[in-house]
Amino acid sequence: MCGIIGFTGQREATPILLEGLKRLEYRGYDSAGLVTNFDSVLHVRKKAGRIAELVQVVTDRPAPGNCGISHTRWATHGGATDRNAHPHLCATGDFALVHNGVIENYLALKQQLQAEGVSFRSDTDSEVLVHLISQCYDGDLLAAVRESLRVVKGTYGVAVMCRQEPGTIIGARFGSPLVLGIGPDGTYLASDANALAGYAEEVVYLQDRQIAHLTTTDLTIRDADFLTVSAVTHDITHVLCDGDTDKGDFPHHMLKEIYEQPESIANALRGRLDDTDATAHFGGLNLSAQQLRQVERVIMTGCGTSYHAGLVGEYLFEELARLPVEVEYASEFRYRNPPIERNTVILGITQSGETADTLAAMRESKRMGHTTLAICNVVGSTIAREADGGVYLRAGPEIGVASTKAFTSQVVTLTMLALYWGRLRHLSLPQGERIIRQLRSLPELVRRTLDCHDRVRTIAERYADAQNCLYLGRQYLFPGALEGALKLKEISYLHAEGYPAAEMKHGPIALVDSETPSVFLVPRGQTFEKVLSNMQEIKARGGPVIAVCSENDDEVELLADEVIPVPDAPEYLQPIITAIPLQLLAYEIALLRGCDVDKPRNLAKSVTVE
Ligand code: AGP
Repeated sequence: MCGIIGFTGQREATPILLEGLKRLEYRGYDSAGLVTNFDSVLHVRKKAGRIAELVQVVTDRPAPGNCGISHTRWATHGGATDRNAHPHLCATGDFALVHNGVIENYLALKQQLQAEGVSFRSDTDSEVLVHLISQCYDGDLLAAVRESLRVVKGTYGVAVMCRQEPGTIIGARFGSPLVLGIGPDGTYLASDANALAGYAEEVVYLQDRQIAHLTTTDLTIRDADFLTVSAVTHDITHVLCDGDTDKGDFPHHMLKEIYEQPESIANALRGRLDDTDATAHFGGLNLSAQQLRQVERVIMTGCGTSYHAGLVGEYLFEELARLPVEVEYASEFRYRNPPIERNTVILGITQSGETADTLAAMRESKRMGHTTLAICNVVGSTIAREADGGVYLRAGPEIGVASTKAFTSQVVTLTMLALYWGRLRHLSLPQGERIIRQLRSLPELVRRTLDCHDRVRTIAERYADAQNCLYLGRQYLFPGALEGALKLKEISYLHAEGYPAAEMKHGPIALVDSETPSVFLVPRGQTFEKVLSNMQEIKARGGPVIAVCSENDDEVELLADEVIPVPDAPEYLQPIITAIPLQLLAYEIALLRGCDVDKPRNLAKSVTVE
C-alpha cells in the first residue's frame, strides 16, 4: 500500500532513498517524502504527487547525511497533500517517522494527545505514532518505539529516526511488510526486497511484532519481549534479482509484462511437468501424496485478479481433479466464519503475498487448524512464509499495478496443481500425458496470440470513448470476462462489467445500446453455439459486438462488428489465451484516454490495509 525505504551507512542516503522510492512507487504514489539526519538536524523534504515531484524538491534543496528514511504514500487517512505526506515529525522536530498500515485506534490516541497539548500538522492516522514516540523517549529510541507501539491497534510497518541518535533507524512491523538488508555500504530497510536489489546482498524479513535496530555497521532484531533475535545469522534470504524492474524498451511496465507472458508461463512450467508419470511436481507443497489424497474440498481465496484466477481454478479442479471447490473473496471469507469440514485445504492466491484481506483469511483458516497453501509471486512475502506450503509463480517482479503476467501464471499454476491432484485421484496416464503436451505448447500459443496487438489497437481507437462496456463469456471464460472487465476499469476508468454470457438476458441487456460495446469470449467449445445466440441477442438491440474467437471462424466474423482471432486451445487453457487480447485492449484504450497505465489513479499494487 505504501513504500518505505531506509538506509544508514557510509554513503549519502538521499540517492539511495530516491532510487528505492522509484522502485517502490507502484505500491502507492499519492505523495512522497524523505528525512535525513545530518549534523544532528533532521532535514525533511516531502511533496504531494509522484516521486518525480520529490526529486525536484530535493534537487532544489538537497537533504544531506548518511542516514535517512523515505516513503511513497497511498492515502488511507487524509488527502494526498504536502502536509499529509510522510515523514511525520513531532512538535519539536526531533523525531521523524514513516508508516505503512492503518492505526485503527488513532482517533482516541489523537484526542488524548491533543488533550495533553499536542498540536497536529496532518490529517493522517500515522502522525499519532511520532508524537507517542517523542513522549516515550528517554534516551533510547528503540525502547521508545516499543513502548509506543504497545498502545497501538491496527497494522504498521514503521521506520523511525531521531535527532539525538544520528545513524540509527528503528524499524517495526505488524501486518505490513518490512525487509532488512545488509550491504557493504551499510544497512537497509524496505517494504519489499526488490527495492534493495543491487544494494544489499542479503535480506532478513522482519516478523510481526519484531523490532529492528539499524546502525551504520550492523543490524539487530528483537522480538516483542525485547529479546535479541540473532536474525543476522539465520533467516537470511539472498536478494532475488529475479528479473529487472525497469521497462527495458517498452513504454510501460504493463506492456512489458504483457509481452513477458510467453517467458513467464514457461518459467512457471519449467521443471514441474513429469513426463514419466504424466503429472506435475512442486518443491514447496510440503504435503505428501497421501495427505493430498485425503483432501475432500478446496476453498480458494484471494482478491481482485487473484480471485478471478481462483474462479478459473474452480473449473480446473472440478474437471481435472474432480475436487469440490469454493472460491471466496478473502475480504468476505475472513469474517463470514463458514462451517468448514475437516480435510478442507484453504488455497490463498496472491501476487504480492501481502494483501491484507488474503493474509487475514489465511491466518484465520490456520488458526482453525486447516491446512493452508499459497500460490504467490513474491518470494519470502508474508503469505508465502506463513502458509503451510505453496507454489511460487516465478513470474518475476510485476510492477504494473494492473496484474497481467501474474494472472496467467496463477492460472497455469492452478492447472498444474489440478493435474497433480487429478493424477492422485482419477486422471489416467494418457489423460495426464495429453495435458502435459498441451501445457508445453502454451508459451508458443501465447506468443502467437500477442500478434493480435495491431488489430486490438485499431479496435481500441473505435471504442475508446465508450462509457460502458460488457464482457461476456461462459464456463472457463466467465472468469475471463470478469478479469477483462477489471483490466479495463482499473486502467482506463471506463465502466465495465463481466457476466456469464447467458446471464446478460436477466438484466444487464437493458444497458445495451449503440454506444455500449459487448466483448464476447467465443472461441470454439462446448457452449459456442449458445454464446453465438447471446451475440445475436445483443446485435438485435443495436449493440456493437467485439468477439475474441477462433481463427478463421466465419460464423463469428459474419455476426460480430469486430473480431480478434486467437489460436485454438483446449477449453481449460482458453482463459490464458483470451486474457492476452483483453489485457492489450485495456492497455490501448487507457492510452487513448490519457491514463497512466502503470499507476492508475486511486490504486496501489499491493493492498496491505483492509
Ligand atoms: C489487479 O489488476 C489489481 N491490481 C488487484 O485487483 C490485485 O489483483 C488484488 O489487489 C490482489 O493482489 P494480490 O494478487 O497481490 O493479492
